[in-house]
Amino acid sequence: MFTHVTPYAGDPILGLMDKFANDDRTDIKVNLGVGVYYTEDGKLPVLECVKTAEAKIANPPRPRGYLPMDGLAGYKKACQELLFGKDTAVIKEGRVATIATLGGSGALKVGADFIHEWFPTAKCYVSDPTWGNHISIFEGAGLQVGKYPYYDPATIGVKFDEMCAFFETLNENDVVLLHPCCHNPTGVDLSREQWEVVLDIVKRKKLIPFMDIAYQGFGDDMDADAFAIRLAVEKGLTVFVSNSFSKNLSLYGERVGGLSVVAPTKAEADTVLGQLKFTVRRIYSSPPSHGNAVVDIVMNDEALFEQWVDEVYQMRDRIRDMRAKLQAALQQRLPERDFGYFTKQRGMFSFTGLTAAQVARLREEFAVYMVDNGRMCVAGLNNANVEYVANAIAEVLK
Ligand code: LMR
Repeated sequence: MFTHVTPYAGDPILGLMDKFANDDRTDIKVNLGVGVYYTEDGKLPVLECVKTAEAKIANPPRPRGYLPMDGLAGYKKACQELLFGKDTAVIKEGRVATIATLGGSGALKVGADFIHEWFPTAKCYVSDPTWGNHISIFEGAGLQVGKYPYYDPATIGVKFDEMCAFFETLNENDVVLLHPCCHNPTGVDLSREQWEVVLDIVKRKKLIPFMDIAYQGFGDDMDADAFAIRLAVEKGLTVFVSNSFSKNLSLYGERVGGLSVVAPTKAEADTVLGQLKFTVRRIYSSPPSHGNAVVDIVMNDEALFEQWVDEVYQMRDRIRDMRAKLQAALQQRLPERDFGYFTKQRGMFSFTGLTAAQVARLREEFAVYMVDNGRMCVAGLNNANVEYVANAIAEVLK
């Protein structure tokens, strides 16, 4: 019956979590694989603002009816204000169709299904490299996926001219998947000037920008990290935005995300919203209620919102501190090399340039886990392990 079914090779990121959990070198092992923020004590945090919201949800206990297919109204409002800014014209004009989704991945899936249905000739282009699941999700939705030039290991920057030249070759309604901040996996973002140029090309070539923002607040700040999204809206682009609260609310397992589509008119936004709901209905019917309720409470209460922003910035600052400490520790051990990229890159990830063989040595000899492409989740470092990790990296680089 199933003899024709081919085995699944496993996911390069999530598969590492299992390997790490099964590694019995508990005294030394360090998890720098999956994009998850750990505290200085190596724990997954429960944010204070989330604790307050959850206490409100629990007392008195709330009935758990089905949510609307597109999620709670207060949740959708929170997504829109975070992404596009409070009191902005595009929200007031009703031109944004927003739905709550199962994490950022769910938003990508619903958006990809919608695009495949209504723009059947569209191809999707992702940065080289990108988060592996971008490719899987768009291919899984039936789109052809190609790569556009992005990361330049020679400069630890962006192959900007090549990227722009590539965009010039694309066809109307082709999708370009963009990372507004904290690029995954490289940590290398476009500058504001570069966004201006890229989005002008996107507009002139009538491409569909699909912006995936999973790390809002971990780059500069909540508003600056949304710069590219707001610029796209300012330029009058029809833009898809997938967002995630996994990292910035530390709600990974609750699967809390959103998809927002900015349309040229309110009437089009309403029609798009209807189709997004239908897409949700035929995949999983409606979103889970807990994450929706937490976001609704935290984001729509001024004091809790401020507390949340402050907690995100504390996480951001600890990551920055770890970047600086790792850089200094490595520079001391291998002064002939330049490790300046650790503090240049932004967000949770550092693209270390380590080869798959070096990454394997780190895992096998030192129990230090990172993704085979050399991506390190800096948020897994702390004062107790940073010197150990620096030693291990220095060893495999010698
Ligand atoms: C990551 O990039 O590690 C995270 O976004 C988790 C995931 O689902 O891959």
